[in-house]
Amino acid sequence: MKRNPANFLGAFLVGVALGVARALSAADTAVTPGDAPVVVPLSSLDLGRLLQYEASPQANKSVGGRPLSIAGRKFATGVGTHARSVLWIDLQGGSQRFVAWVGIDDEVVPPIVLRELRSAVGKGLEESRRINGRVMFQIYGDGKRLWKSPAMQPGMPAERVDVDLVGIRTLVLVAASLGEAVNLDHADWADAQFLVAGGKPRAIDPPREEARVLTPPESPHPRINGARVFGTRHGSPFRFTIPATGERPMRFAARGLPRGLSLDPATGRIAGVSPGSGRWEVVLRASNRLGTAESRLAIVSGDALALTPPMGWNTWNVFGGSPDDAKVRAAADAMARSGLIDHGWTYINIDDCWQRKHSATNPSVGGAPRDGEGRIMPNARFPDMKALCDHIHGLGLKAGIYSSPGLYTCQGHAGSLGHEEQDARRYAEWGFDYLKYDWCYTSYTADDVSLHHQRIPWATMAKALAGTKRDIVFSLSETLDVWPWAREVGANCWRTTGDIQDTWASIDGIGFNQNGREIVAGPGHWNDCDMFEVGMLGGGKLRPTRLTPNEQYTHVSLWCLLASPLLIGCDLAQLDDFTRGLLANDEVIAVNQDPLGRQARRVARDENVEVWAKEMEDGSRAVGLFNRGEFEERVEVRWADIGLAGQASVRDLWRQRDLGESVGSHAIRVPRHGVALIRIQRRAR
Ligand code: GLA
Repeated sequence: MKRNPANFLGAFLVGVALGVARALSAADTAVTPGDAPVVVPLSSLDLGRLLQYEASPQANKSVGGRPLSIAGRKFATGVGTHARSVLWIDLQGGSQRFVAWVGIDDEVVPPIVLRELRSAVGKGLEESRRINGRVMFQIYGDGKRLWKSPAMQPGMPAERVDVDLVGIRTLVLVAASLGEAVNLDHADWADAQFLVAGGKPRAIDPPREEARVLTPPESPHPRINGARVFGTRHGSPFRFTIPATGERPMRFAARGLPRGLSLDPATGRIAGVSPGSGRWEVVLRASNRLGTAESRLAIVSGDALALTPPMGWNTWNVFGGSPDDAKVRAAADAMARSGLIDHGWTYINIDDCWQRKHSATNPSVGGAPRDGEGRIMPNARFPDMKALCDHIHGLGLKAGIYSSPGLYTCQGHAGSLGHEEQDARRYAEWGFDYLKYDWCYTSYTADDVSLHHQRIPWATMAKALAGTKRDIVFSLSETLDVWPWAREVGANCWRTTGDIQDTWASIDGIGFNQNGREIVAGPGHWNDCDMFEVGMLGGGKLRPTRLTPNEQYTHVSLWCLLASPLLIGCDLAQLDDFTRGLLANDEVIAVNQDPLGRQARRVARDENVEVWAKEMEDGSRAVGLFNRGEFEERVEVRWADIGLAGQASVRDLWRQRDLGESVGSHAIRVPRHGVALIRIQRRAR
């Protein structure tokens, strides 16, 4: 791809030798064409525009803040990043060459290796080295690849970059992670410089995209959606709302319900007391003036909660530290009014900050956290928890609450330490159906943070919840690796990630790092990739998600494939058509809610593209063809990689459209950061 490399390098070297190539900083204005070329260091660009998953890019330092060093060689300047990292640059017509040295920074050899390994439960040093710390550096000019490095690993000597940029308008620098996870991918662009005569390179935002609603409009004909299996605990109050779309009024019927349960034909709500252990195959029916739909629902009683990943909403991503009764009611009302409830969305969950905070002077959250008998007290923003739960239940929805096993929650409100049974009882009395239990302030309460001791707080609360005789889903929120054993301490779901954000770096970094964890997922126990970052988000002032439309399709598709709990994080009262389309596509949701309960795994990858597949109960495969790269790519799924053979039908799930039959493989062009979510069904012989 280089044009006349010798000439440009020659001019550059001569310039340097004559002292006419001066270093230009980001603050300098453009170089006048005809002037002798100047050197613009990459580190002088606005690195705030560089996208990366972990930590922040560093000018003239490694991402860990140390002097840049690759295989023992030190570099005075450059940019330390953490793969995957991406920087878009407008060259403004003036750049002639880009030169650099690339490699993995030496800081990832011990002690960092050892620190990172501590969280890689169950993996030995060699294994971790093998799967992590592999980066491919890529350079694109106007959408075409100009250069790529070999797979760079810790300890490998720096690779020289020398790329001709004449005629190129937009440059994109990528450090792509090739490992199983991104740990150790400390990627350096060392001594990285542009040789400039004319317009000066400028970091820019990636191109904007049009938001296209792919989900077809809802039919007025009746259709029963959502999970086809529902679990409960023997003797608990039973609550299930048949999710059905179609014109109202609608009448509901159910055949084969266990004794003790009854259906309200006008609302489609099934209620009563959960039967003794067993499984009932129930036939549900929904009718309106246009027709009738039937669907099967297996009701399973025993210790059988969350047989499909929980679906709902949570206050945190939108209201942060200031949830209140009115906001939660408004969310529940909107969940019902918007019709999301008809697609299976169920839980309305209050996150942190509903409790009192001992240290607060603000009367809306201050006060004694517990009453004279030790019972947890909601703060003044939640005047009547029982009434709130009743309101949520009255809409056919369920309610969730939050606590921590420590003295305090993550935001410093009262935690459950020493009051687990009492708190579980209180949640049950109020009417809650879901508990997010968040590991905070626990290190202050136990000297021994061994695995054994880490498990105790979770197991204590699980036991307390089980004692309530109420179907309370137990969700662990913990950024350390609890997934290998969380099921054993009685959890229904557990976080496998740090806190999600509405950036591509976060979605990409979380979503594509879940491979291997599928071994612990299944009905009743799920890996949780954290909450959706689509729609109007905020904390304080609300704003739309920063994810592009394609990134949002990737986010929802991947979370569905990964069988993650689906918790909407946005303001439900402000759902635009695009966001609603993302959340109300029944064929996409069906991937997440499939009764077999498999979690997708990565079946193929090639540089920027990945194929993830999930085995479905009917023998078909839900497959995500993903493009993590910066430009459109062709992505292909091969039957051999997903355990199929011969002729198979392919369906586009977002558009709910058949794509015809393919033999052996199927390929689709996928946009930047986008996905094609398809279902492949082997043709019946
Ligand atoms: C942690 C969790 C978040 C949220 C906050 C609340 O950071 O990971 O999801 O619950 O605490 O303080």
